[in-house]
Order: sequence, then C-alpha cells, then structure tokens
Amino acid sequence: MSDAPFTVAIDGPAAAGKGTISRAIAAHFGFAHLDTGLLYRAVGALVLDGAEPIAAAQALDPRALEDARLRTAEVAQAASRVAVIPEVRAALLDFQRAFARRPGGAVLDGRDICTVIYPDAEAQLFVTASAEVRAARRWKELREKGDTRTLADVLADVQARDARDSERDAAPMRPADGAKLLDTSKMSIEEAVDAAIAHVEAKGAVLRG
Ligand code: DC
Repeated sequence: MSDAPFTVAIDGPAAAGKGTISRAIAAHFGFAHLDTGLLYRAVGALVLDGAEPIAAAQALDPRALEDARLRTAEVAQAASRVAVIPEVRAALLDFQRAFARRPGGAVLDGRDICTVIYPDAEAQLFVTASAEVRAARRWKELREKGDTRTLADVLADVQARDARDSERDAAPMRPADGAKLLDTSKMSIEEAVDAAIAHVEAKGAVLRG
C-alpha cells in the first residue's frame, strides 16, 4: 500500500457523466473523491437562504456538503451564479488544493480542476457530451424521481448553465491542454468508465488500499 499523492482531475459540463466516472475511478484505485460542484452548491444554497456569497464561501463548513437539498435544480442555478464571483472561487481554492494532494490519491471533479485548481494533476480528463444528450439523461433521471419538468425545460437549464460556466471571466470551463477529451455522447456509462480508468492507469496510477 502506498500513501503517495496521485491526483486525478476531471472537468466538464453538467450531466456529462463526470460524477459517475469520478466515483468509479475513486472506487477502482482506492482514492478519495471530491465533487467540487458541491462546494459551489453549498454556497448557492446559503445565498438562497439570504447569506452574502463571499462571506458564505469564506465560512463554508465541509459538513454542509452532505445536505440532500444541494442536488436540486434551484440550488444548481444558484451555484452557477455564485461561481462567477472571483472572491468566492478564491475562498474555495485552498480546501480543493489540499484535497488534491492528500496522501493515498484523490479524484476531484468540477469545471476548473485541470486549468486552475491543480494543473499538475498526474491524470487529467475533460468529460463531455452534446447538450441534447446531457439534457435527455438528466430528464430521464428526474422523471424516475417523479419530477414533471419537460425535456425542453431541462435542455434550457443545461444550456443556461453551460453558457454561464464557460463564458465567465473567472476560471471559465474549458478543456486543459494536457487533458484527455472523453466525449460520452455515444458511449454507455460502462464504456465511458472503462476508457477513463484506462487513461488513469496509463498515467501511472496503481491500486491502493
Ligand atoms: O457540477 P455541478 O453541477 O454540481 O456544479 C454546480 C455549479 O458550480 C456549476 O454550474 C458551476 C459551478 N462549478 C464551478 O464553477 N467550478 C467547479 N469546479 C465546480 C462547479
């Protein structure tokens, strides 16, 4: 067993499969996983409750990341709005960098992990899919949970978040030069996970635990 750090950095737009792929890589190699979107969602939820965004980010308690409310569409949009504020991003930086170098390996997924948070990550991936495919996947998940929103509404939500995340000045979402591009539009989740694990292995990750 090795305690050496090994960082897997995964970026990409909403609903491309980043979360599933990140969890699968973490489980496969025995690495810790941080869904960095939850940090922005936790700040977004506090802002919906009346907090000031920068103060909320500076005082964020990692225990707030467990709240099931963070998964709602309302909180996702609030997260995307607070994520354009440079001081909010700066307040969340140290926590993410420390997580990236924790002993035993770490997987972080988000929008700016390869470009800003940890550009030296040993393995880097940009996971994407067309907006239509991502909206259809999200719509199916929501329908299974009893949500009645239409596919057109979900697509509009996905496109609004894509635009805000990639057109902002502070750490806009974009594929890093060294990142492997994984377009999952025509892949099953198993194929996408296998391709991602193969890339991480090729970059030198070994099984831990
Ligand atoms: O991945 P997610 O849907 O949970 O992310 C919620 C929002 O947070 C997303 O619209 C953009 C923002 N975000 C970010 O700006 N940087 C990250 N590293 C992760 C998320």
